[in-house]
Amino acid sequence: MDALHRELLRIRNLTVDFSTKQGTVHAVRGINLDLNTREILGIVGESGSGKSVSMLALMNLLAANGTVTGGSIRFEGEELSAAGLQSKKEKKAHEKRMSELRGKDIGMVFQDPMTYLNPVLKIGTQMTEGLRRHLKCSRAEAEQRAVRLLQQVGISSPEKRMKQYPYEFSGGMRQRIIIAAALACEPKLLIADEPTTALDVTIQAQILNLIEKSVKEMGASAIVITHDLGVVAELCDKIAIMYGGEIVEYGTVEEIFHETKHPYTKGLLASIARPGEHREPLRYIPGTPPNLLRRSDGCTFCSRCGQAMKICREYRPCETRFSEEHGATCWLYCKEKAPELVAAQERERETKAAEAQERERKTKAAEAQEQRREMKPVAAQTREREARAATVQEREKETRAAAAQEREMDKPAVQEREKAAKTAAAQEQRREMKPAAAQNRERQVSA
Ligand SMILES: Nc1ncnc2c1ncn2[C@@H]1O[C@H](COP(=O)(O)OP(=O)(O)O)[C@@H](O)[C@H]1O
Ligand code: SF4
Ligand SMILES: [Mg+2]
Repeated sequence: MDALHRELLRIRNLTVDFSTKQGTVHAVRGINLDLNTREILGIVGESGSGKSVSMLALMNLLAANGTVTGGSIRFEGEELSAAGLQSKKEKKAHEKRMSELRGKDIGMVFQDPMTYLNPVLKIGTQMTEGLRRHLKCSRAEAEQRAVRLLQQVGISSPEKRMKQYPYEFSGGMRQRIIIAAALACEPKLLIADEPTTALDVTIQAQILNLIEKSVKEMGASAIVITHDLGVVAELCDKIAIMYGGEIVEYGTVEEIFHETKHPYTKGLLASIARPGEHREPLRYIPGTPPNLLRRSDGCTFCSRCGQAMKICREYRPCETRFSEEHGATCWLYCKEKAPELVAAQERERETKAAEAQERERKTKAAEAQEQRREMKPVAAQTREREARAATVQEREKETRAAAAQEREMDKPAVQEREKAAKTAAAQEQRREMKPAAAQNRERQVSA
């Protein structure tokens, strides 16, 4: 590295997951990237390979369900990775720092300018807002600078254009405005995510030239994301090829185009339309991208690779370096390391299986404990009910015994009462018999 090219960005082992209803989407799986000052890096890969997510992770702009689960992102030596931030305070401080960097040290250009241009604000207002916030300059100074920037990106009559709304510009012009806004604070790094996808071919070339010219003039660096390897051929110094959330090959443009190693890169190259070149109809790579919900045991590209071997299906390949800048992750170049790689991955699997078993055991134990906790009140209720029933029975028994005892104790009194009642009844009968006896006696006398 010479004096002009210092290290600007160094990404190591970056991983990003999204939690979804279907499970965890492993969108970025341990990527490494290096970018020096005054360099332009192209990140190339099919749709869904993790290009945008990697850059959004760098800018701390991931969707709410996304998390940087590991890795380091060093920008000018400062750690920017959100991995491992736990407390709200840490996360707030990190976002504060990132919002300072975004738009000032790191500028962004995205595929659809209308997502980033406010349709109800004049272009001039939108251009000067960022300038005044980041450069703390007056309105007049910001306006002067915005006019100059619009001129630089090829917008004619910029003073007049500043007073117009986004809908009054064509798609290509809107993209130029976004580039002007992204370059306004002279960032050290410009990230352009599919900056030309929505534009026609002639405008695409103009926009790419504009990015290259502006970045080189400012002495800045850039990362240009695209799904088309042809787009980056002229623009970039080096290229990283992404597939299924991984970087499968990286190198200088020369190395990627002329010393291609990875079968996926070869497939991408075969599908580029080179202007003026007589070619067979374009060949596309057959098959579909990998399922990011599940990490396969072997090479991610295996199901689509024409050179796949048995080992590719079962074990992950390792990276092979071909030069200081060039490397690829493919079994074709690391066969001699197979015994140690296979043994290491077997050990890794055993450890993972043991960890999974341990997790399952703990989950089961926790569930059983929870069940016991839930059962406790039921058992207590049953015990209480039984105790209550026993008390009632006991009380009834006591009442019955007391009644019997009382009856026993009251027997003489009852007998006395019965005798008195009998005597009273006999006396009453005798009293009733008396008139009848007298009548009898009278009847005998008269006869
Ligand atoms: N918010 C999200 N929730 C779930 N999955 C997501 C989310 N954002 C991106 N992904 C997934 O991450 C993967 C990588 O996406 P992306 O980086 O946008 O791809 P590309 O290479 O086309 O830019 C894709 O499979 C995508 O579906
Ligand atoms: S590791 Fe095997 S399947 Fe993967 S790209 Fe290389 S040859 Fe193809
Ligand atoms: Mg994208």
